[in-house]
Parts: sequence; structure tokens; C-alpha cells
Amino acid sequence: MRLSLRFIVPLGLALAAIAYAVVPLVDRLTLQWFVRDLEIRAATIANAAQEPLATLVREPRAKSKVSGYLNRLVTDERIFAIGFCDPAGKLAYATATFPPALACPRSEGERRGRLEQLAEGPLHVSANPIAADGEVLGDLVIVHDMSFVQRRSDDTKKYVVWLFAAIAAVVALITVIIAEISWRGWVAGIKRIISGEALLGTRESLKVTAPELRPIARDLQALVRDLEAERHARDESQVTWGPETLRGVLRDDLKGDEVLIVSNREPYIHVRRKDKVIEIQRPASGLVTALEPVMRACSGTWIAHGAGSADRDTVDERDHVMVPPEKPAYRIRRVWLSKEEEQGYYYGFANEGLWPLCHIAHTRPVFRAQDWEHYKAVNRRFADVVVGEARTEDPIILVQDYHFALLPRMVREQLPRATIIAFWHIPWPNPEAFGILPWREEVLEGMLGSSILGFHTQFHCNNFFDTVDRFLEARVDRETFTISHGGDPTEVRRYPISIEWPPAALATQPPVAECRRALRERLGLPADAVLGVGVDRLDYTKGILERFMAVERLLEVEPRWVGKFSFVQAAAPSRSSIDEYQNLDARVRALAERINGRFGFAGYQPIVLRIEHHDAAQVYEMYRAAEFCCVSSLHDGMNLVAKEFVAARDDLQGVLILSQFTGAARELVEALAVNPYDIEQSAAAMHLALTMPPAEQRARMRSMRGLVQDFNVYRWAGRMLLDAARMRNRRRVLSRARAARREAGAA
Ligand code: G6P
Repeated sequence: MRLSLRFIVPLGLALAAIAYAVVPLVDRLTLQWFVRDLEIRAATIANAAQEPLATLVREPRAKSKVSGYLNRLVTDERIFAIGFCDPAGKLAYATATFPPALACPRSEGERRGRLEQLAEGPLHVSANPIAADGEVLGDLVIVHDMSFVQRRSDDTKKYVVWLFAAIAAVVALITVIIAEISWRGWVAGIKRIISGEALLGTRESLKVTAPELRPIARDLQALVRDLEAERHARDESQVTWGPETLRGVLRDDLKGDEVLIVSNREPYIHVRRKDKVIEIQRPASGLVTALEPVMRACSGTWIAHGAGSADRDTVDERDHVMVPPEKPAYRIRRVWLSKEEEQGYYYGFANEGLWPLCHIAHTRPVFRAQDWEHYKAVNRRFADVVVGEARTEDPIILVQDYHFALLPRMVREQLPRATIIAFWHIPWPNPEAFGILPWREEVLEGMLGSSILGFHTQFHCNNFFDTVDRFLEARVDRETFTISHGGDPTEVRRYPISIEWPPAALATQPPVAECRRALRERLGLPADAVLGVGVDRLDYTKGILERFMAVERLLEVEPRWVGKFSFVQAAAPSRSSIDEYQNLDARVRALAERINGRFGFAGYQPIVLRIEHHDAAQVYEMYRAAEFCCVSSLHDGMNLVAKEFVAARDDLQGVLILSQFTGAARELVEALAVNPYDIEQSAAAMHLALTMPPAEQRARMRSMRGLVQDFNVYRWAGRMLLDAARMRNRRRVLSRARAARREAGAA
């Protein structure tokens, strides 16, 4: 009602004002019409009276005859009085009613009709000449009673007021009905916006909103996005991310929801040594390096392939084992695979197929139908384990890497309300490169079962968008970074991975001088030897051969380093049952041998090659003991060795040589960037690193350390979990709104 009054009151006032202005106008107009009417009437009467009056006036005893004639004329109800003025301007004859105050006209002006307000009332007076045979006999003065005009004017005013009142009523009624209908529509639309349905950020969600409200919904979407971005920016810039911050996100933003991680590689491997003693190994895996500290902070369950020779002996009856052994914080759920399954799924499809497919390292991928069958079966097995481990219907599941491209969709089918965050740790190629995969559609569809899909760089996200665009019937929205392919949309985001800060391995490291001394002593090098280091899995994507060739070229062009400089390469054996890896092993050994043969001598080896497993303490000692670290990957999703080297150098010395084809190169811009295929350039970078003044090393190192410190792995995980929390929150708001609507519908 109040809303209706808001329309009716101003409308009424406006119409009243118009009526107020219109009534005098109408009054004046009607008066003018009447006056003109009377003038015509008077002229008509005068014309009609012309002849009889001219005759009568000239007759003898005219007086009584003229008076009689005038008295007859005056019987017309509107005529109040009539008089006849002689040419001298004297009233010669008049009816009894002729007002004494009226005089005969003396000029043409006075002859024209005029209004007079006399004691007898309002009168209209006009004079018309009476003539005969060209002689003017006098003027016939006709006085009309105007009181009827007053009555008519009063009536007209009344009609006008009523007319306006009626118009006001009809217009008000129509306005109120339309306003009421629109209002209900707007209220429903605004409710939808507030409930979050129109704020989802998709074009579809906008369509549910009334057209008039779409700009508001769009503005609100932008506002929500800005606020979220601001909140994230605030979270990320104002908070120093660490285990505690991450726990805070889980506690406050995710309300303690359950977290499950799935990866192929497990963080702790139990191995039975030859002497039967069980030993725990930490695998050489960037994925494990990054995720292990996150899991220590989050607790939860890590589901992985139990690949260690003593893994079965160390689990409980549900295949669980608590880790880390020194301070248990989370549990591993081991999944057992047969030799054939491991061969087909891990060595075959994942590492001979997807790995070379995604890395542009010019190693040809191999796709076998049997491997694909194993890959599907193992993904299904892991998906079932995830569902079995989940204690709630909507856990948060972090799916890791290319081993589990199909798993997100498989889990989604069983746990539709789960928040599935899949992270692809390796590069994503362009559509042409990916297009050779015989099961490309199945792989893409599997991945799009995720709620969030993460890559290290925007470039890889864009490649993924292009690939989906090319091969699937999906809606790719690059504005909101979402892909819709049946079911809920998948957000595709860039989350550059990192390492824990400060790295746990650094805590037990002796001072740099001690590390330098110890390493040189252990490797049998002179105390003043100048060292470069490389730390990698023995993998053809790492550019180890190119690195050695650069060392060789360095010694050719700068012979002063011969005998002084050695390059120490720690290479962890990896996927060694695959031919390509065995070939690489042989070629790396041969090249090192050839270079050592060419430049080495007794007590000096330019390349110190250690193909064996190194634990974190040994690796950190190497980082700290070297003048530079060389990361020359031919293609790499991120490469955490680069970040570890920077983290290890708390003395702010040491130079990082970094391939421009790593994700890390986009962040660590103070490193010496190289194209590993350009051997001359890499050799020059090594020389530059060996001769770089300490002050410049310090400046570069300080800046890189600042970045790795700020953008550590807790922030990486935190950002994903915050995005997951935002998503879950939106879903809750939506389901509440839907429930409310259902209730309203039922009522
Ligand atoms: C890369 C992959 C990881 C993998 C690691 C070690 O970093 O992205 O998923 O764990 O290599 O490889 P491996 O085959 O030994 O697990």
C-alpha cells in the first residue's frame, strides 16, 4: 500500500495542479465563445430588425409603435433590454428594463460588444446601426443578460474538476497495477541475486534474472569478484603463509572439512634393505616435496600407490600408515597394484604416453591400447578407494598429476557434492601436440570432472582452454576461466607451485663454509675448487646432456677454468625400466666420461656424476657448497630445484642459471635465463656466474629469496583451498535459496 501511495500521491498532486491551471483557462475560453455568440446573435437581431424598425421610426406616432416592437423583441429570455439611440446619441426608445446607467454609443469602439458589470448584474452590450435609403436612423442597443454565462462557467468548472478526478483515478489504478506486478518481479529477481543464483558469474546465471535487473546482477557479480580478489590479495599479501595460516584456512574457511590427497607417488616409501632392515625413503619428486609439508599442516589422508618393498609390512589392516615417522601428523592409504597394472598404467600410459606428450622434449610418446586399459582400471581403483576413505559426502579431494586424469570424473559420479581440485604438475601442450593422443576426449572429459583444475602457468591454462575448445563440445568462458561440459563448471586457474618456507632441510645445515669444505672433501676435490651443481631425476626433460655440453664448451672457450672448475651432477635414477630412460642413463654416463677424458687429469674431473638417490640433507649441502646451480630443463611445469637452491642460500651468494622453458623462469627473473638448446649461451652463463661480483649475487639472491618466501607452498595450497571454500560457500547459498524457493512453492 505504501508503494501505491508513493505513486498515487504525486500523481494526484500533479493532476490537481494541472486542473487548477486549466479551470480559469477554460473559464476564459467559454466566456469568449459566449461573447462571440452573443455578438453574432445581436447582429442577427439587428439585421432582422433593420427594416421594420426603419419603417416604424419614420412613421407618425412612432413612439408607441417602436416601443411596442422593442418590447416584443425583448421577450427572448436572454435579451435583458433593448434601446434605440437617435443619430444625436440620445436614447430615443427603450424597454423598461434598459439600465439607466447605460449611455448611447458615441464611437465605433463603443458600438462593438462589451461587457458591463452593473447593478442589474453582468450584461453584454452591443450597438448596431439602423439605416434606410442611405440615411442612418440611429443605433439599436441590445443588452444581453450574462448571468447564464456565470452559471455555465460554474458548471464547466465542476465538469473539468470531475474529469480530472476521473482521469486521476483511472491512471492511478493502472499505475498501481503495473507497479505492483513489476515490483513483484523485481523483488523475486533481487531475492535471486541475493541468494547468489545470479552471482555465480556465468552467463546462464544472469539469464535467470529479470532483464531490468541484469545490470545490477552484473555489477554485483563484478563487485563480488572484486571483493573476493581483494580478499585473496589481502590474504596473500598481508599474511605470511605458513603451516599455521594453512591450518587457519582449513579451520575457518573450510570449517574443518575433510581433505584427501591422491597421487601416484607416496611421500614415504618403506624399503627392505639387503640386511632385511626396513628403511624409509623420501622419493625424488617435486610433487612430494611440495605436498608433504601441506599435508603435515592439514592432516587428512594421502592415497598413493604402495610401491616400496616393505610397504605391505608397515600398514595396518586398512592399509593405513601414519607419517612422518618421527612425528605422525597424517596418514597414507596405500593402494596395491599388480606388476602388470603398474607396467601398463604407470610406466606405459603415464610415463611413455602422457609424460612425453606434455613435455616438448622431442621424445616420441608411445600409446598402447593395453596400457590405456590398465590406466582406466587403475584410475577406477583409486577412485573407489577415495570414495571408501571419504567420511562425508562432500570432502575436498586434491587429485595430483597426469597419473589420474580420469579420476575426477569417476569420483564425481559417486560423490557429486565433493570439491575436487585437480592439479597438473607438468606442462599442458598446445592442441596440435595433444591431439595425437588416441583417447584425447576421454582424458579431457575425465579432467573436467574437477571443480578446480590447476596449472603452474597461465600459458598452460590457455593451452588447456584451446585444447578443450578444439576437441570437446564444451562452453569455454575465458572471462571467468570456466569450462562447462555437462554438470558443474570447472574453474581453470593458475597456481604456481612452490616449496615450504623455511625448508625443513635447512634447519640442520651447518654454515655455508662448512658445507663447502665438507662437499669438496667428500668428492675428493681441492678445497679451492669452484663448483657448479645440478640436481635432477635422471630424466630426458631435464636437459642434463645439454648442460654437460655447456660445461665442455665453457672449458673450450675459457680454458682458465680447466683444473679449477667442476660440475657436480646428482641424478636420481628414475623410471629405469623404460627404454628412453635407460638410453639416457647410458648417454649421460658416456658424455660425462668423454668430457672428463678430454679435460680431466689425475685428481681432476670436470664432471662429477653421481647417479644415485640423495637425501634432502645431501642435496641442501650441495646447493650451499656451489658457486652456481644449473637448471637446464628442456621443458618443465615449474621445477622446484630452482626454488630449493634459492631457499638454501641464506648467505645470499650463489647464482641460479635457469632454463627459460621452466615455469620457475616466470617468477625467478633475477636468475640467468638460458635457452638450454643454445650451448654457447649456457656456457657463457656459466662463465658469467663464476665471475659475478658478490654484491650482484647478493642483490639477485635477496630478491629471489623474497619471492620464494612470500610465494611458498602454503600459499599455493592456501589459494586453492580458499577457492574451494568460496565455491562450497556459493553452493551452500544456492542450495539454501533453492530450498527456500521449494518451500515457498509448496506454500
Ligand atoms: C614429476 C611428476 C611427479 C612425479 C615426479 C617423480 O615431478 O610431476 O608426479 O612424482 O616427477 O616421478 P616418479 O615417476 O618417480 O614419481
